[in-house]
Amino acid sequence: MSATLDPSADSECYLNGTFQPLSQCQVSVLDRGFIFGDGVYEVIPVYGRRVFRVDAHLARLARSLSAIEIANPCSGEDWLALVRELIARNAQDDQCIYIQVTRGVARRDHAFPRGVEPTVFMMSFPFPHIPVAKRASGVACITAPDLRWRNGHIKSISLLGNVLARQLSVEMDAAETILIREGWLTEASASNVWVVRNGCLCAPLRDHDKLEGIRITLLEELSREVGIKLEFRPIAEWELRCAEEILLTSATKEVLSVTALDGRSVSGGQPGSVSQSLYAAYQTAKVAQST
Ligand code: PDD
Repeated sequence: MSATLDPSADSECYLNGTFQPLSQCQVSVLDRGFIFGDGVYEVIPVYGRRVFRVDAHLARLARSLSAIEIANPCSGEDWLALVRELIARNAQDDQCIYIQVTRGVARRDHAFPRGVEPTVFMMSFPFPHIPVAKRASGVACITAPDLRWRNGHIKSISLLGNVLARQLSVEMDAAETILIREGWLTEASASNVWVVRNGCLCAPLRDHDKLEGIRITLLEELSREVGIKLEFRPIAEWELRCAEEILLTSATKEVLSVTALDGRSVSGGQPGSVSQSLYAAYQTAKVAQST
């Protein structure tokens, strides 16, 4: 394997019971993850070798597995032990732990195969910290129709709709693509989206159209802590377009301010006070709550 590949290429990963270098790790081409995208995943942030909100991530993994009828291959305790071992085997202090479980290897047939063990894969990559200058200026986003399936609450590895949506923003030199379904905000290609209207932080309802990000409950707690009013309700496209602030959240973006939408400036082109105070509270929480 070429040395010019991803710098994490020689990181340690885990596949079906064995820790091994990522560059040597192989799965069958008949794996249903490869053939059908038949599997689910998680991305868990690690700060200073400690995991942040890991119980919530493992609970969501259990919900995603149950939603697609794959028996959870590990108990919560076993997952946590594997996560900790993987962190220890990798060099960076700040990492992201990626977990993927697929339905396993079988002759190609859409129907669930019988008696097949799921494929369990985990890898670590360096936490992709957002440069300070980008955080200070905020990021540009574009909008696009949400053309994905109606089970966005499942953290499925079938991400073609998300991939195509994200590529639209890459081509416009923007950080994210915010998705609109029939006039309503859903989420972004790989983040949840929040708006500030009349000083109130608003998030779309938690439903099957979108992933319930682990940062949703966290921001509920943080907004209470810093005294920001929060409402969960349907958010119309026009409200997004005239929002005082727009925020993105995800495991890797943490809390990120959107300062331009479809080429028009948002919150005067600078991160607003709500995103600034939630970002600050997030920084405190990640230190205090990582275990
Ligand atoms: N993505 N919505 C979508 C479609 C996502 O892919 C993500 C995260 C989120 C935010 O979820 P959380 O706060 O739990 O990270 C919302 C991850 C980071 C990814 O696919 O890399």
